[in-house]
Amino acid sequence: MTRHFLLETDFTPNELPELFAMARSFKTHRGNSTPPTLQGQSWGMLFYKSSTRTRISFEVGIHELGGYPVILDVQHTQLGRGESIADTAKIFSGYMHGLVIRCYEHAAIEDFARFATIPVVNALTDFNHPCQVYADCFTLTEAWKAEGDLVSSLKGKKLVFLGDTNCNLAHSWILAAGLFEMEVVLSGPESFAPDPHSVAIADQAGFSGSWSFEPDAAKAVEGADVLYTDTWVSMGMEDEKEARKQIMMPYQVNTQLMAKAKPEAVFLHCLPAYAGLEVSQEVLQGPQSLIWPEAENRLHMQKAILSALAAT
Ligand code: CP
Ligand code: NVA
Repeated sequence: MTRHFLLETDFTPNELPELFAMARSFKTHRGNSTPPTLQGQSWGMLFYKSSTRTRISFEVGIHELGGYPVILDVQHTQLGRGESIADTAKIFSGYMHGLVIRCYEHAAIEDFARFATIPVVNALTDFNHPCQVYADCFTLTEAWKAEGDLVSSLKGKKLVFLGDTNCNLAHSWILAAGLFEMEVVLSGPESFAPDPHSVAIADQAGFSGSWSFEPDAAKAVEGADVLYTDTWVSMGMEDEKEARKQIMMPYQVNTQLMAKAKPEAVFLHCLPAYAGLEVSQEVLQGPQSLIWPEAENRLHMQKAILSALAAT
């Protein structure tokens, strides 16, 4: 059966140690002896939304694994003129060996997966961003100098996600909490509490329970190992920019808030960042920030994800 990566929970807890070990190996041996796990394969990359990191890391990653990335601009395919996802997914499946998609509604990527006979990888939807949180978790294992089973080093660690607690990254952390056995606290305005539909998806996946919502940011970050934030204005939400800036300021990750977490706490941000809004420049560029390895690790982790999907 064709295997897709649409939700964080599409890999089982048992598979994670091998996946993370593969990512570490890809990083350590980059440029030397990368196994050509996509040799002779062509992978489509279909983007309905802007991207810097995701687009480049997938394109480079597919190339480094011996495959050929086919970059598809929606507006220049017949999708842009109304051809159906069902027909497009079948056509793509006849030409290519896998498909990476960034789109708006999560239902659209589910439709691609339903009609495609090749693996479909979620490169961000309005609902979630699983490749990002896998790379984030990998970055944390490095920061904590984990050896052996890297994934076990995440167990019991407290991650606090601040700001827009109803965005794709927040949903991803809800799903990741149970999978990685982390304590995840979402802290944002009450009106941005995670919507029941998103929570239901985590419940269905059988991994809910280890996350909570705390509107008091100072209280939320007590004892935290990781502070995480994302833009307050996700792609497609531009109309709400000014209103969000007013209501989310108490959730800015700045030195005062950072000081309330553990002294050794680290800071993560998926990027792009808007310094002075969701995070202060001091924290973003400061010694606790892991944003540069975090961004680079997208490449290594995605190479592991693609290799795992191609092998099944
Ligand atoms: N973090 C992330 O997905 O960045 P891009 O939007 O640049 O791909
Ligand atoms: N929540 C952000 C993530 C960008 C990587 C967005 O969807 O725009």
